[in-house]
Amino acid sequence: EQINKGRYKHYMEKEIHEQPESLKTTMRGRLIRGGFHKAKSVLLGGLKDHLKTIRRSRRIVFIGCGTSYNAALAARPILEELSGVPVTLEIASDLLDRQGPIYREDTAVFVSQSGETADTLHALQYALENGALCVGITNTVGSAIARNTHCGIHINAGCEIGVASTKAYTSQIVVMAMMALAIGDDTISSLSRREAIIDGLFDLPNKVKEVLPKLDQEMKDLAKQLMAEQSLLVFGRGYNYATALEGALKVKEVALMHSEGILAGEMKHGPLALVDENLSILVIATHDACFSKQQSVIQQLHARKGRLIVMCSKGEAPLVCPGVSVRVIEVPQVEDCLQPVINIIPLQLLSYHLTVLRGYNVDQPRNLAKSVTTQ
Ligand code: G6P
Repeated sequence: EQINKGRYKHYMEKEIHEQPESLKTTMRGRLIRGGFHKAKSVLLGGLKDHLKTIRRSRRIVFIGCGTSYNAALAARPILEELSGVPVTLEIASDLLDRQGPIYREDTAVFVSQSGETADTLHALQYALENGALCVGITNTVGSAIARNTHCGIHINAGCEIGVASTKAYTSQIVVMAMMALAIGDDTISSLSRREAIIDGLFDLPNKVKEVLPKLDQEMKDLAKQLMAEQSLLVFGRGYNYATALEGALKVKEVALMHSEGILAGEMKHGPLALVDENLSILVIATHDACFSKQQSVIQQLHARKGRLIVMCSKGEAPLVCPGVSVRVIEVPQVEDCLQPVINIIPLQLLSYHLTVLRGYNVDQPRNLAKSVTTQ
């Protein structure tokens, strides 16, 4: 049944709409509700015997390619916050090109939907040779990465067929948020923060379910407006820098439209030069600690006459650019570290509808493969 398109025209469409269910299966049996005298917690069977080693490691290095790398980028802030261990990220091919340092005292985490990506697999070999504790986060039980790591977490998002990763991405973020919760489990001072995130995780599938039909229609309309564009810039920062990169990657890889994810804090160091009345720019400005900085970015982009589309938290449209009417995409607000799971959904839908309207192959974009098994 999973490998059938059901009532959908394309696998990508089906996989986007499956996310309420795939997020549930990713979390199934792993969140503990707690109760009287017992805190809410997370149980990750594949990791529990290694948590002490991970907490004591010199740093945690996340390694992946494409969308899997972006998922690690989305989870980094919460991993840093809850683990208290420095967290770094590596694109697998770049780590190999540089033969970058990996130490015995490192925990190296390999993130891969397929578990078979050649660069990630070679990086795993390299980290094993260097004596690091190697953890696998994959969606494919029995894959090369799952077999060759010391321990790991299965993503359990179900089979993903569309070349562009969608439901695996949101489940990867959830897996890494649960990993952060498990590593930070021995810290009393973060207990209320961790409980709030666990409550947020319980709620997340419903939030996604609620918002999918509305966003689907809205993104179809927005795709009509944008279908003939040459380019789309996506601005994000903080928890949603990854959303900007991943949203732009989707638009580029399936809709075959030039798109770039931009760290909003870097706007004045180059990207601003591109902005004029012919450039479409999507700014992610949902409510978190970076909100006021994003308001200022929006004002500056507006002053340069950029054609703005702003993603904001429900009810906050009047705050994004006071006194000016810009096109907005409203999304429900969730716990800040889980917001990237919600925010990527409109961008997945937008890239899907753009692709259909532009007449390109949704599930098998030209020149790309689902699993890149050669270097
Ligand atoms: C290919 C796929 C992407 C994926 C990347 C990494 O480029 O088209 O969707 O993100 O490989 O794959 P992995 O299986 O390691 O997550």
